[in-house]
Amino acid sequence: MRFRELSLGDAPAVADLEAELFAGDGPWSRDVFAAEFAKPHTFYVGAFDGGELAGYAGLAMLGPRDDPEFEVHTIGVAPRHQGRGLGRALLDQLLHTADLLDGPVFLEVRTDNAPAIGLYESVGFFTLATRKGYYQPSGADAYSMMRRRKSEREGEQRQ
Ligand SMILES: CC(C)(COP(=O)(O)OP(=O)(O)OC[C@H]1O[C@@H](n2cnc3c(N)ncnc32)[C@H](O)[C@@H]1OP(=O)(O)O)[C@@H](O)C(=O)NCCC(=O)NCCS
Repeated sequence: MRFRELSLGDAPAVADLEAELFAGDGPWSRDVFAAEFAKPHTFYVGAFDGGELAGYAGLAMLGPRDDPEFEVHTIGVAPRHQGRGLGRALLDQLLHTADLLDGPVFLEVRTDNAPAIGLYESVGFFTLATRKGYYQPSGADAYSMMRRRKSEREGEQRQ
């Protein structure tokens, strides 16, 4: 498996995998991904098995650079590659980026998505709130989750 930052030419493959993984929950189109990849404050990483996209994940930085916060935009692993550590490896890369700038990270996840919630909790996310009907057109509820900035997590460990 090879990891690299995603760019414009990857948008069709990412949108195809997104459509497979998020049907019913407003999957992003290739145009949306192309626009996201071009933004200066986003980081999208892909995992490739040979030439084939096996997984992808995206992070956005919000706020000022000296006190930023981050949002996990998306993370997905192709069904035949799931359950082998790839989702964790992709998420680790996003979180490493957020930790370098000592920012908290936020995300939304379907309340019935046990694998994703398990993954997020295992790296320090906790639930802030439930957002009713967040996903459209499915109408599924979401949890808003947060992971504290690195300096706060380390402070908690020392107490
Ligand atoms: C969520 C997702 C990205 C996880 O990727 P993955 O490569 O399958 O996950 P990993 O093999 O790295 O597993 C990481 C952790 O996730 C959790 N997990 C994974 N599969 C799980 C399952 N079936 N049930 C419960 N927890 C699970 C575990 O905590 C696991 O850690 P462990 O192996 O140390 O126990 C993947 O299932 C996926 O793409 N799902 C569809 C898209 C999606 O829902 N994305 C998240 C949107 S918020």
